[in-house]
Formats: sequence, structure tokens, C-alpha cells
Amino acid sequence: DRPEDMEPRPPVVTIMGHVDHGKTSLLDAIRNANVVSGEAGGITQHIGAYQVEKNGQKITFIDTPGHAAFTAMRARGAQATDIAILVVAADDSVMPQTIESISHAKAAGVPIIVAINKVDKHEADANKVRTELLRHEVFVESMGGEVLDVEVSAKTGQGLDKLLEAILLQAEVLDLKANPERTAEGVVIEAKLDKGRGPVATVLVQTGTLLPGDILVAGNEWGRVRALVNDLGKHLSEALPSTPVEILGIQGTPQAGDKFAVVNDEARAREITEYRQRLARDKAAARHVGQRGSLEQMMSK
Ligand code: GTP
Ligand code: NA
Ligand code: MG
Repeated sequence: DRPEDMEPRPPVVTIMGHVDHGKTSLLDAIRNANVVSGEAGGITQHIGAYQVEKNGQKITFIDTPGHAAFTAMRARGAQATDIAILVVAADDSVMPQTIESISHAKAAGVPIIVAINKVDKHEADANKVRTELLRHEVFVESMGGEVLDVEVSAKTGQGLDKLLEAILLQAEVLDLKANPERTAEGVVIEAKLDKGRGPVATVLVQTGTLLPGDILVAGNEWGRVRALVNDLGKHLSEALPSTPVEILGIQGTPQAGDKFAVVNDEARAREITEYRQRLARDKAAARHVGQRGSLEQMMSK
């Protein structure tokens, strides 16, 4: 890509944190309050990712537990996230999965924004959270560090606007860009076999523009895109970089974290996926033989 082809793209955000600290509640509260303008009233459905709009700027949220998303993606060498929101409940403070989340984000080189949640509760102690984070080398802004921190309540909605502003601020620093004028590439967020619609994959377009009719390869599967559907059930005529979208028309269900790419024709798509499927079968067979081998060794001892 030439520098002049690069255009700003929305940030892609993942929410991480300890169990019950309010990840799902926050995602729901943000989504309900900030549905992309002009589309309110649409029937929201779970597609594993959604977009909201704040001050005319879009933000993409990956709506799967951060750990699972990070682990699946990173296992396949894909990185979907630009910014990690670390949710810490102010009544419970830093807990084991908080610490794990910090190391996941740091290992991936993804900047963290701390959302100190549940500040509506009597037991809430936001400063305790900040102090405990120091011990894990997360230096929040309000203690002189560089990590943005925002007090929020998924229950009352307090601080949610500030959180979105912090995300946009962080995104500006990251100067996120992609070339929309090329064939699309990206990553699979999740995939399932839908009773009525057949295989459905939610993908995140990371570069290029995905169009209906495009032929794509995703992991071991391929297909011709029959429809692009967003999280409001709306059919899109294109999906630009950082857009999460459901695709119909794929022949099977790829795995979360698989990369996808648009290819020139069906023959090429078949060739690539047949090769990959054969490779996967050979690998499985080799594993089987290996297991039998070691079993025989054990028995002969
Ligand atoms: P897991 O996905 O199970 O790890 O949990 P989670 O992090 O998604 O937390 P979830 O959103 O399920 O919230 C856990 C509990 O905390 C629920 O009972 C929520 O209603 C409650 N909760 C979440 N956010 C807030 C908040 O801001 N204030 C209060 N008072 N309760 C909250
Ligand atoms: Na929960
Ligand atoms: Mg949850």
C-alpha cells in the first residue's frame, strides 16, 4: 500500500477483565446508548461485534469475552484489537483475571484503557483500584501515568461518554489507517451453522473493502459472499476497514481467529482450501500415528 492510499479507520476495541466485573454489562450499555445514528430501532442481534458512533466517529467493539478472543486470535497469529478496555470492578478491585488481562494486552502490544466499573456501589473504591494497578505496572493518568482511566457504571450509564471519548483519544494517538481501495483481508470473529441461513461467519475487515459477490478464503473454507449483514440486520453494499460484518455464502464454518482474504476466482479458492484441508487431515493422521506409537512404546516397557 502506498502512503497516499491509506485512510483513517475506526479503532477496534476488546473488553477484558475479571469474571463478573461487568464486561457484558458495559458492552450492552454502550451499545444501547450509542447505536449508529439513523439506525436506531433496528433489531439488534448478536454477531460477535458491533459498531457505535460517537461525535460522528465510529468505534468497533468485539463482543466476545476478551480472553477468548485474544487467545483464539493470537494462537492463529491474527491480531484484531487496537485497544483493550480493562474493566475493573471498584468493589472488588484487581483480581487474578485482571492481572492475566494485563499480560495478554501487554504481550500483544495493545494499549490499555482502564474502566473502573460499578462506581455506583457503596463499596466502590476507585483509588484502591488505581493503586493496585500500579503494582502491575499499569500507571493510570490520574496518578501521573499515561494509561487513560475512566470511572464508569454500566448500571447508571455514568462515565460511558467519557470512556468513548478516551477510546477516540487513544485512537488518534495510534493514527489507525488502512487502504480501502484493495481486495479485502481480515479475521474471523466467530462462525456458526445457522438453521435457516446455512454457514454464517462474522468477520472483521482489516484492510480493503469487502463486497457482495467477492470470493473469499477463510481458514479451510471458501465461499462467494451472498450478503453482508451488520449487527442491526441491515444488508450492506460494502464493508470498509474496521467494519464487523456477517457474511453469508461461505461453504463451511471457519474458526475464530482464522484469517480471510478475497481471491480472484473460485478455482483459486478451491485450490487453496483443498490444500489446507488435506494438510489438516495429514496432520491429524500423523498425530494419530504418533499417539499409537507412544502407546506401543509404553506397552512394550
Ligand atoms: P463474565 O462474563 O461472567 O466474566 O461477567 P462480566 O464481566 O460480563 O460481568 P456482567 O456484565 O455479567 O456483570 C456481573 C454482575 O455485575 C451482574 O449482576 C451485573 O448486573 C452487575 N454489574 C455490572 N456492571 C455493574 C455496575 O456498573 N454497577 C452495579 N451495581 N452492578 C453492575
Ligand atoms: Na457474569
Ligand atoms: Mg460476560
